[in-house]
Amino acid sequence: MSAPEMDWPNIGFQYRETPVRFVSDYIDGKWDEGRFSTDSNVVINESAGVLQYAQTCFEGLKAYRTEKGEIVCFRPDLNASRMAESAKRLCMPVFPEDRFVEAVKAVVAANEEFVPPYGSGATLYVRPVMFATSPVLGVKPAVNYQFRIFVSPVGPYFKGGARPVSLMVSDFDRAAPRGTGHVKAGLNYAMSLFAIEHAHALGFNENMYLDAATRTHVEETGGANFIFVTKDGALVTPKSSTILPSITRRSLLYVAEHILGMKVEEREIPFEDVKEFVEAGLCGTAAVISPVGKITYDGGVIEIPSGMEKMGPVLQKLYDTLTGIQMGRIEGPEGWVVRIK
Ligand code: PLP
Ligand code: COI
Repeated sequence: MSAPEMDWPNIGFQYRETPVRFVSDYIDGKWDEGRFSTDSNVVINESAGVLQYAQTCFEGLKAYRTEKGEIVCFRPDLNASRMAESAKRLCMPVFPEDRFVEAVKAVVAANEEFVPPYGSGATLYVRPVMFATSPVLGVKPAVNYQFRIFVSPVGPYFKGGARPVSLMVSDFDRAAPRGTGHVKAGLNYAMSLFAIEHAHALGFNENMYLDAATRTHVEETGGANFIFVTKDGALVTPKSSTILPSITRRSLLYVAEHILGMKVEEREIPFEDVKEFVEAGLCGTAAVISPVGKITYDGGVIEIPSGMEKMGPVLQKLYDTLTGIQMGRIEGPEGWVVRIK
């Protein structure tokens, strides 16, 4: 489908193929120069490391059309460094961080017509991904890899747009194995598919995962971190080494403290404290800030006081400020918004 035919406000969050992706191969111990490709298919050996032992990691960021019509992206350097950490932990070669940022900019520019218009409610999702292409049979790292960045225009992650979501506390663990909390890797997500299908079948939008070791503390959901607002207006978020360090969350903590003058706290959050919060939200690139209305657990239901109708006032202020920076309405901290075109 060509871009002008898109019904931007209703495109949902799904893969839509666009004309150009960036591809670089790691062969004979080094990354090649990389190239643009119009081929969205990948042909690899049946015993490729990615297929046998899930040696793959990925990132997610967005490109935005600003009020002035420019195209920008948000803190791509942090995605580059997180992907470097993921790659190292999975014994994959790091794609150089400066080249990562340049490639993001180049792919977005090459698919310019798929960056949704300002104010449409849609954005361009950018998916860098790396995977092992050469064959392995014994359990060991592969020799060759591919790094690829494709883009897809997307709407809100949760159906219903900005309406609060309903969660269930999962019986399953989302947690990464010990020491891999910072890794954004395919296998962690594959292991969460059963739990998300289970939650959807029961009518919930997502899971709240508790810590795998004690099942007493709040961790994250399948694709976003948690933020909460206390009765006295502070922003609180779980401290844990087994959740993904969300770039959105890091940005929101900064915005809350330094732009909105709020008290912020990163600390362990016992599940039994959740009923004391007045607002709750999920934050991430895809989720942006999605408010939480209800959390069901085996002892009952927590109804967050801000309700199931709309986002509470404090999260709304954070949302407006963050998206204001991303869309060029508000001046953000130096280096956060990177101009592409
Ligand atoms: N947690 C998980 C498990 C995620 O998949 C994501 C999305 O990338 C996040 C948190 C949010 O991270 P970020 O704000 O960097 O997109
Ligand atoms: C993101 O927010 O970029 C993610 O990777 C989450 C994923 C569930 C789409």
